[in-house]
Amino acid sequence: MRRELRQDGVLSDSDEGDIQPEQRPRSLQACRRCGLWRNATQPVPGVGGRRATIMLVGEQPGDKEDLAGEPFVGPAGALLDKAIAQAGLSRDAVYLTNAVKHFKWELRGKRRMHKSPAQVEIAACSYWLEKELASIKPQVIVALGATALGAVLQGGKRSLRESLGKVFKRGDTSVIASYHPSYALRTPDPQSRRAAFETIVDALSKARRLAGEGKQ
Ligand code: URA
Repeated sequence: MRRELRQDGVLSDSDEGDIQPEQRPRSLQACRRCGLWRNATQPVPGVGGRRATIMLVGEQPGDKEDLAGEPFVGPAGALLDKAIAQAGLSRDAVYLTNAVKHFKWELRGKRRMHKSPAQVEIAACSYWLEKELASIKPQVIVALGATALGAVLQGGKRSLRESLGKVFKRGDTSVIASYHPSYALRTPDPQSRRAAFETIVDALSKARRLAGEGKQ
């Protein structure tokens, strides 16, 4: 991957040209299917019981997750925990993962800021998401945000807003679209933040009903 110092002082990397979809690595640690491993501390695998009936898919690990090696342990994770509890679920009842397993970032000042993964990186990482789906076989997937929805449904770009509240099918598995918890954190006005949070809770509640789950 090429690293470039842009005129605004941001250190950024070039996305394209480091994709090796022919590679079939045995472990996430050894994965070089795209170049994101170079700037990440470690890959962040999914967590949860192998018998979980609900899988939550986010976009990619953030700064805290990159350091901890676990998904959703930062601020977005704290909000997601609240939504999970409000929906009558527990973290143990769900399997949590991301569409992309390495943190993609750019340096702004001294902070590593989230950078959206490129479509080729999402496609390269679907190798791992598909393995998780085949192993966990969830009854319901909640896609947290547009990147996750596209990765799970593999159908190219879909409008997240128009997908909210709908139940899609992926084989026998139901797929529910929701906002990403980071969106519910970042949206400037409090009313929209509350509405986004409620949308996430609604999606999780619907997932619980579809999967026949109660609080465990
Ligand atoms: N955002 C995500 O999409 N996933 C995480 O694990 C953390 C933040």
